[in-house]
Amino acid sequence: MSALMQTYARLPVTFSHGAGVYLYDTDGRRYLDALSGIAVNGLGHAHPAVTKAIRDQADKLLHTSNLYRIEVQEQLAETLCAVAGMDNCFFGNSGAEANEAAIKLARLYGHQRGVDKPSIVVLEGAFHGRTLATLSATGNRKIQAGFEPLVAGFIRVPRNDIQALQQVAANNPGVVAILAEPIQGEGGVHPLSTEFLQAMQDICREREWLLMLDEVQTGNGRTGHYFAYQGLGITPDVVATAKGLGNGVPIGACLARGKAAQVFGAGHHGSTYGGNPLVCAAALAVVNTIAADHLCDNALAMGQLLRDTLLADPTVAPHIREIRGAGLMLGIALQRECGELVAAALDAGVLINVTAGDTIRLLPPLIINETETLELAAAVAALIRNFA
Ligand SMILES: Cc1ncc(COP(=O)(O)O)c(C=O)c1O
Repeated sequence: MSALMQTYARLPVTFSHGAGVYLYDTDGRRYLDALSGIAVNGLGHAHPAVTKAIRDQADKLLHTSNLYRIEVQEQLAETLCAVAGMDNCFFGNSGAEANEAAIKLARLYGHQRGVDKPSIVVLEGAFHGRTLATLSATGNRKIQAGFEPLVAGFIRVPRNDIQALQQVAANNPGVVAILAEPIQGEGGVHPLSTEFLQAMQDICREREWLLMLDEVQTGNGRTGHYFAYQGLGITPDVVATAKGLGNGVPIGACLARGKAAQVFGAGHHGSTYGGNPLVCAAALAVVNTIAADHLCDNALAMGQLLRDTLLADPTVAPHIREIRGAGLMLGIALQRECGELVAAALDAGVLINVTAGDTIRLLPPLIINETETLELAAAVAALIRNFA
């Protein structure tokens, strides 16, 4: 422990293995995982399709380099683009890198159109990562403090404020793109309103800005659609994703469509590991399993069951201010700050998270079944009751 930089306040538990929606600690105690490694393990733990893909690939080839063609990378790109309605993609190793690629793509798009200081509209409450550019795009001062000077070129507007967006459009000729999460995850599980999403798309179309969605957390089935925008009636030009794409192997992707897909050429961006054979084999198994096992539908159904069960319980519902989110990305806002519930849940054998002070965040694996969902609902209900 002491040899690690203390960048995390860790909980006092170590897991040795997992199976499905359950994790087991080094003392053999079982936990219901309602966090999925923060929206990563959509297929749960030790999913046989992912394990097999990794084993088979490891037997053949782990890494070559992007200096050569990588068959499984091309296969993954094609599969992912078909699912997303996009034209091409770039692979990195994380969500922050997926957003970095999007930010670079937007800047280059601007320069190619003669804008020498291109800027990107971002939202208050957003979270886009911890690299310098992505923390600069993030709308949370705590994450930025101490790391100034920040990367320039981001203009912030309040979430769901159409007028502010229009004002920025009218007064900033250098804007080339908007970057936003369809549902802000780290910011407290706040969905963007339908009107705001539509306004973002309209302004982007009118002004030839790129509409760029950060689907690092919302993507890969989490909200009940492969990507959240597929349920929201908008079509982005650029999509960044990661987390659930690899189910635990480090992979991120920046997908692009139409004019955005023409921006990067040879030498514009790169990554040594990005999209190597091992991670692409795993991710391909993930994308195929999400489709084959109808996990988007399951996320919708189980998310609804979780909400309905909690709200139908008269000993719990009065203590819930609201439940936000979609599919299996749920924020249960309570009447007051509830950070202590993370440790209480751990004691009770359930892994949850609290964001924005007063909101329980649930991100269970997409494979969760009805019995496990009811077990989770009962555990969360007990936590809320005891807390209240
Ligand atoms: C919406 C969003 N974007 C970007 C990131 C950063 O991803 P990573 O930690 O893989 O760099 C996260 C991580 O929580 C996220 O939720």
